[in-house]
Amino acid sequence: MKKRVIIDCDPGIDDSLALMYALSAPELEVVGITVVCGNVPTDMGVENARRVCRLMGRQDIPIYAGAGAPLSRPLVTAQDTHGMDGLGETHIPEVTEEEWPHTRFSEKTEAGGFHVHSDLPDAVAFISKALSEEKLSVIAIGPLTNIAMALQYKPQIGENVERFVSMGGNFKSFGNCSPVAEFNYWVDPEAARYVFEHMECPVEMVGLDVTRRIVLTPEMIRGLEQLGDPKADFIVKITRFYVDFHKKQEGIDGCVINDPLAVGYFINSDLCKGIDVYTTVETKGLSVGQTIVDEKGFWKKKANSRVLTRVDSPRFMRQFMSALFGSRGEAVLR
Ligand code: BDR
Ligand code: CA
Repeated sequence: MKKRVIIDCDPGIDDSLALMYALSAPELEVVGITVVCGNVPTDMGVENARRVCRLMGRQDIPIYAGAGAPLSRPLVTAQDTHGMDGLGETHIPEVTEEEWPHTRFSEKTEAGGFHVHSDLPDAVAFISKALSEEKLSVIAIGPLTNIAMALQYKPQIGENVERFVSMGGNFKSFGNCSPVAEFNYWVDPEAARYVFEHMECPVEMVGLDVTRRIVLTPEMIRGLEQLGDPKADFIVKITRFYVDFHKKQEGIDGCVINDPLAVGYFINSDLCKGIDVYTTVETKGLSVGQTIVDEKGFWKKKANSRVLTRVDSPRFMRQFMSALFGSRGEAVLR
């Protein structure tokens, strides 16, 4: 049985890879893609999600635009990391009206067949509605603004979240926005905190401790170049900028692809090990956005999260490449 999931994202280079993976994985049925502001402003994220769906021949998937700003602070994008267009400055042509069957800016009536409160972003309305009707899982690979808004709007939807996997945060590893904070939680710490404190099921936190181990190496990129496959060509094209950024910023060859691990771990939880623990997020001061993981139980609070600490990276890479390219995926890893 396929697992029905909502993917909440801010595409973004690694989000795009995660979407490609989720749309290829036989284990998943993506019921909707919701876009949040983060790496890029929301409208740009929606356009990029459309580009990925077109590439994958999946224009049947509804895409909903979400929050245009974090809960209570201005948006700081990561266009330095992902490029001004969010796809490594590849400027891939926009999806035309003919290529996209849904209404362009308001898909809620066309794709989801529902009408909502006019103040709510479409994505938040969709998440609230979908989770009021059935049990679903959510894989969140951007800031948690849409999810926090949905929980605030309809707190009871928490009961229908089967699994909640969030790429974000860091435990023992250092941050990528400050010495202590990771981007998704740093952009909207109030939302991240709200979700940790109000989600019924544990937040399965796929943080930098594990995602830093997921590196698309120059050898893999060369392998992808040789496949002669439009999906492989797309990956090579959009990661070029990301690779340059990683070289300059972190001194590494290749690029860290954080978000696909959230999908891989959702499909196969054996890929990672973690601890069940109480976690919250700092919202103020120098350490804003930091995940505080009460590993030693100082606060005697019930565990609200599973914080991942270890990952079998080679196994993840095999899983990822074979979902996208079948048996030809092995050649990329040789
Ligand atoms: C996270 O931040 C974004 O730039 C990536 O898409 C990923 O979700 C990593 O910190
Ligand atoms: Ca992301």
